[in-house]
Amino acid sequence: MTGPVLAVDQGTSGTKALVVCPERGVIGSGSAPVSPRYGPGGRVEVDPAQLLTSVVDAGRRALADAGEPASAVGLANQGETVLAWDPSTGEPLTDAIVWQDRRAEQLCGELAPHAEELRQLTGLPLDPYFAAPKMAWIRRELTRDGVVTTSDSWLVHRLTGAFVTDAATAGRTQLLDLDRVAWSRRALDIFGLAGERLPDVVDAAGPVGVTTAFGAGTPLTGLLVDQQAALLAQSVTEPGAAKCTYGTGAFLLAQTGHRPLRSTTGLVGCVAWRLDGRTSYCLDGQVYTAASAVRWLADLGIVSGAADLDAVGRAVPDSGGVTFVPALAGLAAPWWRGDVRGSVTGLGLDTGPGHLVRALCEGIAAQVVSLTDAVATDLRTPLTALRVDGGLTRSALLMQTQADLLQLPVEVSALPDATALGAAAVARLGIDPDLAPEQALPAWRPSAVYEPRISADRAAERLAAFRAEVAALLDRTPAPA
Ligand code: G3P
Repeated sequence: MTGPVLAVDQGTSGTKALVVCPERGVIGSGSAPVSPRYGPGGRVEVDPAQLLTSVVDAGRRALADAGEPASAVGLANQGETVLAWDPSTGEPLTDAIVWQDRRAEQLCGELAPHAEELRQLTGLPLDPYFAAPKMAWIRRELTRDGVVTTSDSWLVHRLTGAFVTDAATAGRTQLLDLDRVAWSRRALDIFGLAGERLPDVVDAAGPVGVTTAFGAGTPLTGLLVDQQAALLAQSVTEPGAAKCTYGTGAFLLAQTGHRPLRSTTGLVGCVAWRLDGRTSYCLDGQVYTAASAVRWLADLGIVSGAADLDAVGRAVPDSGGVTFVPALAGLAAPWWRGDVRGSVTGLGLDTGPGHLVRALCEGIAAQVVSLTDAVATDLRTPLTALRVDGGLTRSALLMQTQADLLQLPVEVSALPDATALGAAAVARLGIDPDLAPEQALPAWRPSAVYEPRISADRAAERLAAFRAEVAALLDRTPAPA
């Protein structure tokens, strides 16, 4: 079976779908919005019905755009978003609690004595970002009924009736034994989730079920969590190479081969994908707010949206002494202080929108540098370049700032929808198991390469200013008891 495949990337702020053909590349695309709701106490949730509708709408739009049916479907999902639902009817029992939600903070505090054991078992630091703390929080605060799973399992159940999750999404829960790639009884016990019915852990590529959502029955043959899908599509397979996706948050991943790694620097050691029963692993680090920090600036009226960043930022030559730590949903790797909130310092009467925009770009880029430094330390190999994708890579100002602070070339993928292309690749591997992963992907090429334009000394100075501000923030935010 060789026709085009439909790849759906179900993300935090929207769903994007592509129809991808082996010979002709992308022949159709469609999208549908998703609107998370933000509330006090770190609440971030979304109506599950909107997630499902967005998947179906985006997929149908892409197929209409292509004017051809698909022979298979692949789904990439936001990794750590969870909900409770009734497995007999498929009806949601709660809102979907989005990965950015911080309400499991207290629960994580209570489990702190088990943090190191959990890290050794699962590769993940104890933090409300991951799925298990939110699953346990749902059980404690919202309902004891039904099953509680990551959003992919619910979407796949609604589309095909199967009850599965892919190994990489399972690896984002903090319930997966990283060495055995199987649910960990001990981790389940620690989170009080021992009696839960959990989905089967499946490979990223292979038949899962058949959906009628996109016309006559179409097999679902690819499932992969979104950041790992982008890693696959960016063809980052060599040590010393990493990718960063600038979406709602910014996510840096580096593939580490077939041996599971526990980071010594505060990164996450997790599953990249499992194909043909063989697991590849990766290291990853997160900046929780990238496009969502831009949205925040837009809500304040400082920019009209992401497309406006460069025009506003370029009105001034530099950040005018302003330092912005955009920890608007806390700090992730390597600090793991979700309780910390963002800061803007160095404001003066002469501070204008351009300074704030530049300071935000520096804040995001400096956090990414902390992650690349950590990857290089863990892998004992300096990075040689950074491949990037995602909506915010359209900002030349952000990308130039990234290259400047990183002191390395930043290579922007010519194919902006890397996540969907990764989902297309696993869907194709699922219908043609003889293909090698590289054969299922379009050849990688950059649309732009940003070279550093400032000296190493100047970059070090700017990073030091940012790090001093992070240290001050950590100092004045007492760690939760
Ligand atoms: O870990 C969160 C990530 O999976 C969300 O990605 O593309 O929705 O920002 P995105």
